[in-house]
Amino acid sequence: METLDWKNLPFGYLKTDYNVRCVHKDGKWGKLEVSASEYIDIHIAATGLHYGQEAFEGMKAYMGKDGKIRLFRWEENAKRFCSSADGVKMAVVPVEMFREAIFKVINLNRKFIPPYGSGATLYIRPLLFGSGAEVGVKPASEYTFLVFVTPVGPYFKEGIKPVNMLICRDFDRAAPLGTGIYKVGGNYAASMRAITAARNGGYSNTIFLDAKEKKYIDECGPANFFGIKDNTYITPKSESILNSITNMSLIDIARSFGMKAERRPIAVEELAEFTETGACGTAAVITPIAKIVDPDMNMIYEYCRDGKPGPLSMMLYERLMAIQCGDAEDEFGWITIVE
Ligand code: PLP
Ligand code: COI
Repeated sequence: METLDWKNLPFGYLKTDYNVRCVHKDGKWGKLEVSASEYIDIHIAATGLHYGQEAFEGMKAYMGKDGKIRLFRWEENAKRFCSSADGVKMAVVPVEMFREAIFKVINLNRKFIPPYGSGATLYIRPLLFGSGAEVGVKPASEYTFLVFVTPVGPYFKEGIKPVNMLICRDFDRAAPLGTGIYKVGGNYAASMRAITAARNGGYSNTIFLDAKEKKYIDECGPANFFGIKDNTYITPKSESILNSITNMSLIDIARSFGMKAERRPIAVEELAEFTETGACGTAAVITPIAKIVDPDMNMIYEYCRDGKPGPLSMMLYERLMAIQCGDAEDEFGWITIVE
């Protein structure tokens, strides 16, 4: 095992030993190759560079108390990766190839998997981009798929401590018929202005509203949003947000605890009715929100007034984490052991 300061890892890039790569050319995928290099040789006219023809995924490998490495719902990531690839007209990575790539890269970098109980995990980042040269705007004739891993700590450095969010009305992340439902780089590029404005104002991140009417909550930085009231977990239904696998899972967990769960549009004013709110995603896990500020409407919504996460958010967080690292029974069949 590497001797890293596991308990204080940032959510950032740390070099590991190997990554895996594969090229799609002449209509077919080549062989999956192992590389020790952190670099790729890329054509200056690659569509991934010029026209954002790219998609990525994010998942984590968890070390259990029993020394087994667990993956959480990786098939859902594989499916979403296919959908994102098709969303920007790229060659699709078959699920079996996706599986082979992630299992291989995890096994090759076993020593970088943070120990059980450290609060850190091994983040897995599959990436697909147009590597063929084009100057006109059209899909490339060549694609590169790669997967690297890196050990990470929590995305929001506060961990499970509540954070403050800024409602953004000046910039949109994605439009209803755009690419917001896909995990493609362009959405993240589009979010940079809002995120920078939020950080400069001392907020952890930004809450995007629907681009069409600016009435409903869309997403919460690189995570989905949820609110809780009357024992009900409520999360936005929108045509411009990424369908979070964590969020899907929290809906099932909430129901298993006897809570109700709803996926429907959430008007900004409803923020005043929630007793708890949070952001959820692979990187964010559950990040409770203490305060949401809407400067244009002169509104401040406050939760967690004692500085602690709300009880239902904490219950969902603990159950999710326990399933992911193997402390709780895998009652939903979400876990795959990496042999
Ligand atoms: N929304 C956005 C924009 C994201 O980047 C992510 C991260 O993947 C999520 C939501 C959460 O999705 P998941 O729970 O599948 O990681
Ligand atoms: C994830 O939660 O896995 C993400 O991909 C978020 C990331 C953009 C930091």
